[in-house]
Amino acid sequence: MKSQGNIVLGVTGSIAAHRAVDLCSLLVRAGCEVHVVLTADARRFVTEVPFQTLSRNPVVTDLYDTAGGWQPTHIQLADQADLLLIAPATAHTIARLAHGLADDALTCIALALRPETPVVVAPAMNGKMWLHPATQANVETLRRRGVEFVGPDTGLLACGYEGAGRLWPIEQIASHVLARLAAGPGGAGTPPPSVA
Ligand SMILES: Cc1cc2nc3c(=O)[nH]c(=O)nc-3n(C[C@H](O)[C@H](O)[C@H](O)COP(=O)(O)O)c2cc1C
Repeated sequence: MKSQGNIVLGVTGSIAAHRAVDLCSLLVRAGCEVHVVLTADARRFVTEVPFQTLSRNPVVTDLYDTAGGWQPTHIQLADQADLLLIAPATAHTIARLAHGLADDALTCIALALRPETPVVVAPAMNGKMWLHPATQANVETLRRRGVEFVGPDTGLLACGYEGAGRLWPIEQIASHVLARLAAGPGGAGTPPPSVA
């Protein structure tokens, strides 16, 4: 199958991180090349093992890993990426992106992307965290910079409250990403394959 595109999938320290495993699988089965990057806190919720197996690529967990050769891995991945997807995205990582922090592999990749590379963010968090003015201001900053947000959904949250903050359904995230890849950096493309 022709590759649908090269995706960097960033996974952050949310209770929804386990759902990124199936999201990774959906994207691979749809024909994408997927490179997974886990934040340090994502590794409290998931390990690299399922991502490495499903993506058939090494998983990046350490900014200073030199296994890829002389060029830093985060620069290689940023150069090659057709799209950066962060799912789930925590309030903390959304804040780091909005403020241009570069304190781990994922945030360094986000800064080192080619300017035309689409960035898609799927937030997941407690409803009060999502609605907090600080988070909303960070989201607005990123939107103004061209970052696309998918979700969050509303419903029963893992913390026990009802509200906005649920990770968007992974099938919808995958469909959005495939459509975005098909459209290319600046125009309409062919319809994406189904992920069902
Ligand atoms: C059990 C548990 C669940 C959490 N779930 C979320 C979450 O869904 N969304 C969120 O923004 N933060 C959540 N947090 C807090 C983040 O893990 C914390 O802000 C962390 O610093 C995020 O780091 P990262 O964005 O670098 O991965 C949770 C913390 C705990 C202990």
